Amino acid sequence: MGVFLLFQLFFTIAIISFSLHFFSTLIFSCWVLPIRAYNKIKKNGFTGPIPSFPMGNITEMKNSMNINVSSSLNVISHDIHSTVFPYFARWQKSYGKLFIYWLGTEPFLYVAEPEFLKNMSAGVLGKSWGKPKVFKHDREPMFGSGLVMVEGDEWVRHRHVITPAFSPSNLKAMGSLMVEPTTKMLDQWATLINSGYPEIDVEREITTAAGEIIARTSFGLSYQNGNKVFEKLRAMQITLFNSNRYVGVPFSKWMCPKKNLEAKRLGKEIDQLLLSIIDARKKSLDIGTSTQKDLLGLLMEGSLIDGRSGKSLTARELVDECKTFFFGGHETTALALTWTLLLLAMYPDWQNQLRDEIKQVIGDGEIDFTKLADFKKVNIFTISIYLDIYLY
Ligand code: HEM
Repeated sequence: MGVFLLFQLFFTIAIISFSLHFFSTLIFSCWVLPIRAYNKIKKNGFTGPIPSFPMGNITEMKNSMNINVSSSLNVISHDIHSTVFPYFARWQKSYGKLFIYWLGTEPFLYVAEPEFLKNMSAGVLGKSWGKPKVFKHDREPMFGSGLVMVEGDEWVRHRHVITPAFSPSNLKAMGSLMVEPTTKMLDQWATLINSGYPEIDVEREITTAAGEIIARTSFGLSYQNGNKVFEKLRAMQITLFNSNRYVGVPFSKWMCPKKNLEAKRLGKEIDQLLLSIIDARKKSLDIGTSTQKDLLGLLMEGSLIDGRSGKSLTARELVDECKTFFFGGHETTALALTWTLLLLAMYPDWQNQLRDEIKQVIGDGEIDFTKLADFKKVNIFTISIYLDIYLY
């Protein structure tokens, strides 16, 4: 009996100590540390909206979105910043071009001051830039340990293997993979317009075509499971971004457990499929028959050459880079092109000049990647893209 009581006492003390440790760690990391960070930031002269626990400024951000979206529909304005980020525009008026805002218990620095960025980055090696841990968690299923996520020497190693894949001759070879989906999309538009169809959802069309292009150029579509990977990557993107996200809020991953489980499940399936593609390609490489000139093929060849000096990527890392390039190069390009087309639609003069320039270079023939170099260095399209990135 005495032994049983002793055991019970020991067990109770262990549970109490564990709970105390757990709660004190929780309070320290979710409350004390953010308050310390807040005071330190304030002491260094940065101001910003006052955060509340545990949401930071997220509630305010969400509320101002609800007001703004309904009031700004159907209005084309170059002041896209205050339409898309009304809270940033408001805070900029109050706190200037540099301020701190909070996502949950994580502080973020808002910078709309190019000089500040220039000074900050001057003399700092790429590998010394840290990456926010808070995104690592949130975006793990998308990027894994790909370039966007890795830091320091690991980042250097990945860059060392990846950079040669983007040589001019490789880009030229990838260019031919881009022509088919683009031509298909434009032909569909022509058919729709000729049949009197009044409306084309340009953003959706371009996003789909860009997805296909980036999938072809990253890991190939025709090759075995490429198509399945593409579909699942799109599904994961929709799952992760079509729901409320509470980045930085403690335990936020438990707020949308269904979404997170679904993303994890898709992530695993994508990894398996990509691993099977890599496996099959390795076998082809071993017998010297692989001629795939997409990013995966180039990285695998590069790894094979560089592997001798210990600078290769593992199969797992190749999988993560394929996902990284898909997500990194997909909507970024699609949205840049969509806004560029909007600008061109708003300024028919530019449109006419651009059309004339394209006709001069390409003529009425097929789009040919090799002719890109014949465009003037600064053409209307380049100007539109720069303007679009600057404005939007
Ligand atoms: C208009 C189009 C694009 C824009 C505006 C854009 C923007 C950016 C930005 C701002 C970063 C820095 C992100 C960070 O460090 O957190 C970045 C990095 C990156 N982007 Fe893009 N991007 C575009 C197109 C692309 C394309 C087409 C690809 C792939 C083919 C791509 C792949 C990447 C990768 C891999 C990184 C990480 C680079 C590194 O850390 O070394 N991006 N991009």
